[in-house]
Amino acid sequence: MTAAQLTTRERSLVAVIPGDGVGPEVIAEGVKVLRATGVPIEFEELPWGCRYFLEQGRMMPLDGLEVLDRYDAIYLGAVGWPSVPDHESLWGLLLPIRKRFELFANVRPVRLLTGIPCPLAGRQPADVDMLFFRENTEGEYSGTGGRVHAGTDGELAVEAPVFTRRAIERLARVAFEAARGRRGALVSVTKSNASRHAYVLWDEVIADVAGEYADVRMERVLVDAMAARMVLAPASIDVVIASNLFGDILTDLGSALAGGMGLGASANVDPARRHPSMFEPVHGSAPDIGGRGIANPIGAIWSGAMMLEHLGHIDAAQSVIGAIESVVASGVARTVDLGGKSSTREFGDAVAVAVSAPQ
Ligand code: NAI
Ligand code: MG
Repeated sequence: MTAAQLTTRERSLVAVIPGDGVGPEVIAEGVKVLRATGVPIEFEELPWGCRYFLEQGRMMPLDGLEVLDRYDAIYLGAVGWPSVPDHESLWGLLLPIRKRFELFANVRPVRLLTGIPCPLAGRQPADVDMLFFRENTEGEYSGTGGRVHAGTDGELAVEAPVFTRRAIERLARVAFEAARGRRGALVSVTKSNASRHAYVLWDEVIADVAGEYADVRMERVLVDAMAARMVLAPASIDVVIASNLFGDILTDLGSALAGGMGLGASANVDPARRHPSMFEPVHGSAPDIGGRGIANPIGAIWSGAMMLEHLGHIDAAQSVIGAIESVVASGVARTVDLGGKSSTREFGDAVAVAVSAPQ
């Protein structure tokens, strides 16, 4: 399909927050590829992040969330830089967006593409094809807690996980629906042996929802065993539902299984669409390689495809994923993390060319 043949719905307005480190490098390629689809999107860049923090004392303006609420979607690179404490950068921008906009489903595909060497010996693309649903508003990242007796030897910190039936249940429904449309298997990840309140509630709510999805095979797996199973038997895993912390950790492992940290894509979604959803690669700002133009932009471009799908451009989303697959399979461009020589920009150019080419 050529760009001109793609569906032309009304123009969407997307807020772009390139952020820090490799964020701007990979997001530039994502925007380039999305433009190449011909889908009518207007991108407006917001210069928020750690540089903004160092100048203004905040990660985003006081009315940042009100500003973002006017957009149809948010496309984010990554935030974080060594000169700003990580809890300031995360709690000053990313986490308020996820929480205040109730983007409760963090959807993260983990798929090994043909042509990408899998770090697991002998595994083929058919062996690594998972879809994670990470709870995105509460759990271990609820922000509940505090510190007292600072500077004394009695100093104390409390970080209290918060789990609600409402949040678990709404995510479960989305995940079970997705499992129904895939291979019909769902793994619920907890640690309800050692933690005896919150994850026990989680298990009960998942079991309740599972009762409505008799066609989906639901399994409970403890998070430590799940980490091993992702490595030893990845083909046995289809859809995964996990808490905020466990989903965070396991999807870095997932990105690694798919070839590396640069490959993971994610969508932060409110299916009810009360606020703009946010699309971002799984990885962070990678200060160790930031500014060198060598980051892998696959996760960012793929997240852009997820944004296209969310905005209703299903064919264009497929064409972007197809273009990533064809560039990777042909080896016409390959970034250094995958053993190639291409820069971030050269890889993005190759995907943009593939997207514009008649298919
Ligand atoms: P990271 O994901 O930035 O980096 C981990 C490793 O993966 C590094 O070796 C890095 O070079 C590599 N890597 C990451 N993205 C890559 C890419 N596109 N291509 C090739 N290699 C890539 O995680 P780290 O080091 O724990 O965090 C760095 C900063 O990012 C911290 O300030 C952290 O708070 C922040 N962070 C922000 C996130 C966000 O904005 N969504 C998510 C995770 C971390
Ligand atoms: Mg993470």
